Amino acid sequence: MAGWLSEAHRVIRRCEELARFSEEAGRITRTFLSAPVRKVHACLAEWSAAAGMSSRVDAAGNFCARLSGSDPNARVLYLGSHIDTVRDAGPFDGILGVVLAFSLVEALAGQSRGFAVEVIAFSEEEGVRFGVPFIGSRALAGTLDPELLSRRDARGHSVADAIRDFGLDPAALPDAVLPATALGYLEFHIEQGPILEQLGLPLGIVDAIAGQSRFELVFTGQANHAGTTPSDMRRDALAGAAEWIARVECECRATADLRATVGALQVLPGVSNVIPGEVKATLDVRHANDDVRCRSVQSLLHQAQQIAERRRLGFGAEQRLDQCATPLDATMTSALERAVCRAGFVPHHLMSGAGHDAMILAPRCPAAMLFLRSPGGISHHPAETVLPDDVAAALAVGSEFLNGLEVTHA
Ligand code: HGY
Ligand code: MN
Ligand code: MN
Repeated sequence: MAGWLSEAHRVIRRCEELARFSEEAGRITRTFLSAPVRKVHACLAEWSAAAGMSSRVDAAGNFCARLSGSDPNARVLYLGSHIDTVRDAGPFDGILGVVLAFSLVEALAGQSRGFAVEVIAFSEEEGVRFGVPFIGSRALAGTLDPELLSRRDARGHSVADAIRDFGLDPAALPDAVLPATALGYLEFHIEQGPILEQLGLPLGIVDAIAGQSRFELVFTGQANHAGTTPSDMRRDALAGAAEWIARVECECRATADLRATVGALQVLPGVSNVIPGEVKATLDVRHANDDVRCRSVQSLLHQAQQIAERRRLGFGAEQRLDQCATPLDATMTSALERAVCRAGFVPHHLMSGAGHDAMILAPRCPAAMLFLRSPGGISHHPAETVLPDDVAAALAVGSEFLNGLEVTHA
């Protein structure tokens, strides 16, 4: 692993360089096909050319760079992750998987092998701009539905508008779909949780990714004067939402391993001397077992409806995502485990609570994931970080994986 340590420092430096490309001064925010994405693409294009890779941007804004194999018809192994971020993000979520993949390909350059390697920098995994995640990987999986293309962002621009504004053609989306002969997809990603750190391990092999439901909810009351309206005449949308948010926390406490979060709240009209007339809230529910997740979702929506009725509020909910729990490919994962062992590390297996592009591609091609430890267990936060030794460990495993890849011809 020592041989990879200087490359690991270079990977970290590159991630920190790319973190400068943000929509917001002083913090990292990079959403679907926003202006800073062009600067990330320009960097990736430079790295691709230097590594003898051909590169392109597909109709969903995914940056794809390929190092061809000795055989022009060789099957393709895909490596990658996403380059969009949450708001006020850390510098490694997603982008680390792209940068680390480039290092592995650069180390391969010139070596003849029976397969091609393509690095994919997915355009949109978080769902920040349009409220729906995984636009980039859905394009490769061929699961982008027309309804999603017409979803609008806060400024009224649709997904299709964003694609056209970036100089791409939504009509070309079908060309982005992965070939059926894809060898597989391997994603390196930070764990974004506390498990590997608690175990004192640098790496983790992901067996499955939890299912997730995402909703946008609205509680509708009656705005009124804060100073003159008696309690029994109030229809306070925020008081209703607050009562329900406390129930979300109770549902988590009562259901083992359930993660339910109200991450965004918009209060209207949002001034101190007006009783809130409307509250928009998001709900994000995750669990390894789809039945448990869906039961909790139904219970929480029912409780919201009951609270609204008792408080004479309106209530509505729109589902934005219903992503089932996804096991990763057993064969690819066994090959990854062998690579972890050959590189001299403990092959610890775990489940991912965070969603990843691998779960979208898994139905389309064999997918595997390797986690790197998240110091402090923190992510989706500027304090998100990685340890150089852990990045070196991941590079050593990735190199062993590529060297050990058995290519069965299509
Ligand atoms: O929210 C998630 O699970 C991931 O970070 N997109
Ligand atoms: Mn994320
Ligand atoms: Mn991520």
